[in-house]
Amino acid sequence: MNRHLISAADLSREDALLVLDTADELAQVADRPIKKLPTLRGRTVVNLFFEDSTRTRISFEAAAKRLSADVINFSAKGSSVGKGESLKDTALTLEAMGADAVVVRHSAAGAPHRLAGWLHGSVINAGDGAHEHPTQALLDAFTIRRRFGRGPGQAGGGTLDGLRVTIVGDILHSRVARSNVLLLHSLGAEVTLVAPPTLLPVALEGWPCVVGYDLDAALPKSDVVMMLRVQTERMSAAFFPSVREYSRRYGLDSARLALLPEHSIVMHPGPMNRGVEIAADVADSARSTVTEQVANGVSVRMAVLYLLLGGSEAAQ
Ligand code: CP
Repeated sequence: MNRHLISAADLSREDALLVLDTADELAQVADRPIKKLPTLRGRTVVNLFFEDSTRTRISFEAAAKRLSADVINFSAKGSSVGKGESLKDTALTLEAMGADAVVVRHSAAGAPHRLAGWLHGSVINAGDGAHEHPTQALLDAFTIRRRFGRGPGQAGGGTLDGLRVTIVGDILHSRVARSNVLLLHSLGAEVTLVAPPTLLPVALEGWPCVVGYDLDAALPKSDVVMMLRVQTERMSAAFFPSVREYSRRYGLDSARLALLPEHSIVMHPGPMNRGVEIAADVADSARSTVTEQVANGVSVRMAVLYLLLGGSEAAQ
């Protein structure tokens, strides 16, 4: 594996399977009375967050602590960033405090890539603008594998070969969509994007997926439907006539849920806009994997930290 994880494209199919298989082993730690391994004792992980986060920041912290690493949490709010300190100087300051890995979230696409050029330790992208969020894609793939019995030694040899995944909604502003298209395709899934034309990137050439505009037509052909948050905070113009109109055409409610094959699952990376892209009863239904995704995020991020930092003791 590369020293850094900036993009889902950094992972070959074999790398991705190694992360998912390692996460499967590390998930067993959560079932122990003492949820800790000594693997990263003496290592320091810095969470460097310039944008808000609940799931990603907390699960990286939990993952690092379960592996016995020291964790430094940095939030731009209340720091010297407010006095004008640059990204580079902020990162070098944290590295001087002994960071072995920096987990970074930033509103600027490419910020983790720049950091990787300045720092000696590993850089993990925890979301950069509308670019990528590779660990979200890994935890989504892990969740799909578990729900469809595709783990190591099961059907498909750990891959997602032939599974049909439909990603719906605000693709334009979504780093989750881009990372998932790359990773799920690499793992063998057939990915379809469904969105209003205004919420699709202009240049989709080279994305290994199919594009559609009709959600009702796509649902009966989906094993997995992944609903995306409408990211109003990144919208500088009107991308659809009204929330009600968006919800009517692209929201997943119980009537649309009935169009899915019986075995299908509903995913959402969170945070959700209940009543906009997903109805509350769908989000809380047995088909929904929303809370499983959060729980799986800890195991997957443990695996990423373990593999990038090369733990001194094997997971056992
Ligand atoms: N899915 C996700 O990245 O959630 P947070 O913004 O809460 O980290």
